Amino acid sequence: MQVITKVAELRRALADVRKADKRIGFVPTMGYLHEGHLSLISASRGHCDVTVVSIFVNPTQFGPSEDLSRYPRDFARDEALCRSAGVSIVFAPSAEEIYPAQFETFIEPGELAKPLCGGFRPGHFRGVATVVCKLFSMVQPDAAYFGQKDFQQCAVIRRMTVDLDIPIEIVTVPTVREPDGLAMSSRNRYLSPEERGRSLAISRGLFAAAKKFASGEREASMLIALARKHLEKVDRLQYLELVDAETLRSAESPLRSPAVICVAAYVGSTRLIDNVVLTISRTR
Ligand code: PAF
Repeated sequence: MQVITKVAELRRALADVRKADKRIGFVPTMGYLHEGHLSLISASRGHCDVTVVSIFVNPTQFGPSEDLSRYPRDFARDEALCRSAGVSIVFAPSAEEIYPAQFETFIEPGELAKPLCGGFRPGHFRGVATVVCKLFSMVQPDAAYFGQKDFQQCAVIRRMTVDLDIPIEIVTVPTVREPDGLAMSSRNRYLSPEERGRSLAISRGLFAAAKKFASGEREASMLIALARKHLEKVDRLQYLELVDAETLRSAESPLRSPAVICVAAYVGSTRLIDNVVLTISRTR
């Protein structure tokens, strides 16, 4: 496994891979890797000859009052995990390598970036889209892998690749959960044991709504009310919405597939997000 910090070196290493006609898979991360990231790496390894993982805590996607400075970092642990997961290249650039002095060009996502997290984290998806576009241009992979937990991020990135004619397959990989249901996230480490217990309200609310949906309930308000009951345990519910999975606009009742219930909530001072996708099977 190569660990590369400079764009020029990355381009050289990947030129050889491309010459050998190998398929390149890319997993962008902000490090502090967990099982969710490992499932993205595994998906990439299943479909590609070479897997590149980037580790970069992207400052432009954090708001001024967000957790950029305390975002968990452990490069030695990340490196070891990547090595044992069969990653070919870890790209770990400095902030100056990605955003040199005088950097001033950003990607401005459209309507998909406005609801849900977009309403509470102004500029977040602008920062995500910009860094992902830059990383795409540096790595030029055949496919890139993102977790479904960040459903809106996946939608914004997919739209960006279509709108900007970026020839990269975007693969969304199902959310990996702890055995008790909590969605894996680097931010889970902020939770005290008591908060960790209460954070289960999020997945429990989502699962209860998904179960009701599976039993035939198609009224969005009923499903939301059910999820909301569980969510009383969180400290602050930022949003709980049932949206069309393509447009991310409020889904109309009776629901028609695909739709997704999305949550953002604070448990203590930790902001957690999660979602479940609701699909109607076309049997009979
Ligand atoms: O999902 C993340 O970890 C980040 O938003 C990403 C895609 C690596 C961009 O910084």
